[in-house]
Amino acid sequence: MNEKISREKFLKVTGMAGAALLVSSLEGWAATTADKKLKVAVIGCGSVSNRYLPQLLSSKLIEVVSLCDIKYDRALGQNKQYNVNAQTYPNIDAMLAGVPFDMMVTLTDMQKHGELNKKAILAGKHVWSEKPMANTYAEGKALLDLARSKKVRFWGAPAVVNSPQFAFMNKTIQEGKLGRLASAHGQYGHTGPTWSAFFYEKGGGSMPDLGVYNMATLTGLLGPAKSVMAMLSIVKPERTVDDKGKIKVEAEDNAHLLLEHDKGVISHVMCGFNFFDPHGHEAGTQSLHSIQIYGDSGNMRLIGYDWETNGVVLDTSWDKPAELLCTDKGGYEWQEGARVTGESIVNGTEPKINVEHALHVLEIIEAARKSSATGMKIKLKSKFPWPMV
Ligand SMILES: NC(=O)c1ccc[n+]([C@@H]2O[C@H](COP(=O)([O-])OP(=O)(O)OC[C@H]3O[C@@H](n4cnc5c(N)ncnc54)[C@H](O)[C@@H]3O)[C@@H](O)[C@H]2O)c1
Repeated sequence: MNEKISREKFLKVTGMAGAALLVSSLEGWAATTADKKLKVAVIGCGSVSNRYLPQLLSSKLIEVVSLCDIKYDRALGQNKQYNVNAQTYPNIDAMLAGVPFDMMVTLTDMQKHGELNKKAILAGKHVWSEKPMANTYAEGKALLDLARSKKVRFWGAPAVVNSPQFAFMNKTIQEGKLGRLASAHGQYGHTGPTWSAFFYEKGGGSMPDLGVYNMATLTGLLGPAKSVMAMLSIVKPERTVDDKGKIKVEAEDNAHLLLEHDKGVISHVMCGFNFFDPHGHEAGTQSLHSIQIYGDSGNMRLIGYDWETNGVVLDTSWDKPAELLCTDKGGYEWQEGARVTGESIVNGTEPKINVEHALHVLEIIEAARKSSATGMKIKLKSKFPWPMV
């Protein structure tokens, strides 16, 4: 669905209230600003900005005009390091009052995303947010409603639906090659970030940081989840991190989730900050799988990770060996979300990444916390347009 789409098709696909307004705002932008670049402001100039800035700067359709960090030297440092030539700011209010921009890219501590995204949307800016897009489902939904009322776009990471491997797996499922689907599993973990405390503080945890990728992939492939059961734990109660020294771990660092999809399909996600995995951050050479999907006439495994996709092994035969297929990444990089959505605004196209999908994943994370705390199965209310590609 990455081509220029008609108003009718977009409305049909999204089926969402207010979509007409969004389409007309997209078309308006594309029509009136043919040779204008999208002006982007990046807030949060820490670790992940090293991945985002080269992506954004590589785009002919985007100009990074502002960099902001409450640790102001980081904004100055990244401006110099990447020759951005942007204005720099020590807080969002100064940035919103500074040089004009069209879209904010939010790369701060997870717990700050909701309040910063709200300020930007209220100021009439489009927003791409690293995950999570807000602290709670209710906050995320309110932000989406606000964005629609302000006729601006709002998207949340991750960008896993963009990979050719996601498209291949989706097509394989939709064509019925796996038969009647039954079960799926996804896992992602490493030994945890060492640089910032927020990953371990309330509102952080391995689910919004790592499990979120698998949740997006499995719901993207199998459809929205109807309910969630989960067990979460803290395996390592104390950590030492660069910014705060020794800290108490407050958010789960070990999580298992069961997702109930339509037609009896059940998927499982496991994630954590205590997983020994030499490929946890750099996985270009990972030859093992991290996602598997089973039907009654076939199964497939995603080699690598959904953020670093090295191929898909498909097994549909009783007598022939499983095949490694779809090994070309086609340029996909996990950090491309802000660039791709920003370019979609300029081009007047609708990207594959869908905000209601990100919101659904946020509801799953919140439901998993509730399920683990109460021992109950938690019903979900959110949905998203599916199949996605
Ligand atoms: N580091 C990675 O490899 C990676 C990968 C994918 C996604 N992410 C996501 O990116 C986000 C940031 O992670 P990170 O690793 O870059 O963290 P980080 O600690 O390295 O950087 C966060 C930056 O945000 C700044 N900040 C915090 N509050 C702010 C505010 N109110 N206004 C302006 N700046 C503020 C901090 O000073 C810091 O420089 C998180 O949501 C994380 O889950 C990180």
